[in-house]
Amino acid sequence: MDYQKKIMDLLQGQVAPLRFDPQRGVEFIDQRKLPLEKNWIKASSYEDIYHIIRDMVVRGAPAISIAAAFGMALTFDSSLGQPDQAEVSHYRHELGRARARLASSRPTAVNLFWALDRVQEAFDAHFSKIAENVLRRADVHQFLLEEALRIWAEDIESNQAMSAFGAGYLPDGGVLTHCNAGALATGGLGTALGVIRKKFHDSGKIHVYVDETRPYLQGARLTAYELFEDGIPITLISDNMAAMVMSQGKVQAVVVGADRIAANGDTANKIGTMGVAILANHFHIPFYVAAPLATFDLQTFSGREIPIEERASRELTHIQDRPFTAEYPVYNPGFDVTPSSLISAIFTEQGVIEKPSRESVAHFFAKIMKSVPQS
Ligand code: MRU
Repeated sequence: MDYQKKIMDLLQGQVAPLRFDPQRGVEFIDQRKLPLEKNWIKASSYEDIYHIIRDMVVRGAPAISIAAAFGMALTFDSSLGQPDQAEVSHYRHELGRARARLASSRPTAVNLFWALDRVQEAFDAHFSKIAENVLRRADVHQFLLEEALRIWAEDIESNQAMSAFGAGYLPDGGVLTHCNAGALATGGLGTALGVIRKKFHDSGKIHVYVDETRPYLQGARLTAYELFEDGIPITLISDNMAAMVMSQGKVQAVVVGADRIAANGDTANKIGTMGVAILANHFHIPFYVAAPLATFDLQTFSGREIPIEERASRELTHIQDRPFTAEYPVYNPGFDVTPSSLISAIFTEQGVIEKPSRESVAHFFAKIMKSVPQS
């Protein structure tokens, strides 16, 4: 399968956080600079990818997972001066080192760990079947590159599927979103913004209130940019205006993305999401989460066990590297956890979990596992 062509067909010119061609390799749009500057940063090694994720050149749970898969593949780029041939066990060892480094880049989005496991499993399944023990480095690189491209293509397809499920839940009128769960946070299209795009495409009757999303401003910089470029009507608000616009009847639904969903449906997402959910419940406004199955962490019992990244204090004291206050003590958790009791439904690529709870999440996964043919 030509995954590169498939991705181009799926994107249809839509913005994406990365681009790839065999000659130029993989490059990421520098999301720290958007929308004022559009710079592309090339990644040549897993160490480059580690920095690209950690420094938030690329961010958003599914986009991080795709970057990590490319990081695993780049471990075997023959231009890095390693011998052309080696035993499978040697490559496995190198892959383990890359995996550990990439896993230490950011802690909260479980999609990162999902992608690292998936690439490792693909490597093990494929190379344990091969008779010869000595392999060309270029072949290992090519195999893992294909896997990274496959993960990217599948992510866009999953966004399309969850958008189709979710759009029917959005009433006509105002929708509020927090952070950026759009094309830039995924392989393309987006999770929450995919649902919004589909609703706009189907009925045109949508107006999006975009939370600026302090302190890193993913809403003001990325969500506003993406939706505005697509001609979708938006109004940018600061986070502390959400209660006001809800009280004025301007918001009929909220839809956000997710970084990790525990077995009981508790959902970690960008800091401030829980506050939006509390407000939505107060005003009897449905609160929806859109996320692929890769965002579920069924090993994690509840939201309490989800690791929350603490970020640099500069994010609160500076804007674009310029201080606007003194160096006071700062607390800067990057995410918070919305209890499942505040969530009306979770949209996934395989269907919708209404009123998420330990029981409804378990029931949903039991149902989809049954529909997967056992080999
Ligand atoms: O710190 P970020 O920008 O990586 O956080 C991103 C979010 O919280 C998104 O809402 C989440 O990853 C979902 S992206 C489809």
